[in-house]
Amino acid sequence: MKDKSLVSINDFSLEERTGILKLAGEFEQNPRQDILKEYVVATLFFEPSTRTRLSFESAASRLGAKVIGFTDAASSSVKKGESLKDTILTVSNYSDIIVMRHPKEGSARFASEVSPVPIINAGDGSNQHPTQTMLDLYSIQKTQGKLNGLEIAFVGDLKYGRTVHSLVIALCDYNTTFHLISPLELKLPSYVKQHIKDRKLEYHQYTELEEALPKMDILYMTRIQKERFSDPIEYEKVKNAYILKNKMLESARENLKVLHPLPRVNEINEDVDSNLKAYYFQQAQNGVYVRQALLSSILGVKQI
Ligand code: CP
Repeated sequence: MKDKSLVSINDFSLEERTGILKLAGEFEQNPRQDILKEYVVATLFFEPSTRTRLSFESAASRLGAKVIGFTDAASSSVKKGESLKDTILTVSNYSDIIVMRHPKEGSARFASEVSPVPIINAGDGSNQHPTQTMLDLYSIQKTQGKLNGLEIAFVGDLKYGRTVHSLVIALCDYNTTFHLISPLELKLPSYVKQHIKDRKLEYHQYTELEEALPKMDILYMTRIQKERFSDPIEYEKVKNAYILKNKMLESARENLKVLHPLPRVNEINEDVDSNLKAYYFQQAQNGVYVRQALLSSILGVKQI
């Protein structure tokens, strides 16, 4: 694990991912430790973020690391025309690890190829969001007591939702039955679906949410990714495709949990928040422990 970049979820083996989940559980029991006080973590966010950036910064701070970075490329020399390569080479002089979010698919891979320090992909366009996947796996395991053999529904923007892409790929290791609920225009890309097919796992596609809901263990809601649409009229057509309301959960299994990477717009009514099946804010909290596990193992301070 030491010095390994995390760009795509499959950059870490199943064994490594299992080790991270176990270590995250240890950090949940003891989140304040001074084990990274010799280290500097850089967070470079070329796209907006609340949870990913702040939970990484919280994770690093609670372990004693210093955090540097920017939250808006316009406040960096990128605004003057500096290339991504030059930015990464420069920031790697000031830090031991770089957490980067960028609007362009493939940017994190490129950064990892030019960087002398490890890169953690905090989301590259509509491609992948592997650290979100790790906290999603942690949340599923914590609420269901297992990862294997679950019925998991993905709802909403399966085309542009990077959290969906990396989580579907990861769940192919756990004999998951996939329920893919989206407007026809926002179906899961075929390259992601191919992972399910390669593992000969069951998947079902729907356009209606109510049809699938009673069979699910996990309902993974997603936002329609307005910023990825080139045509605003196309966004208007699908923006209200799914709105989960508290009453709809009456038909759900006892063990069902509603997950959402957040932010939400209107796809989960606020009346769901007080339902015990709503787990999305605890899910975001789990991000701190998982990111503590990632930082400390990639920096070589914890062995998994
Ligand atoms: N889940 C997630 O990536 O949230 P942010 O965009 O707030 O980081």
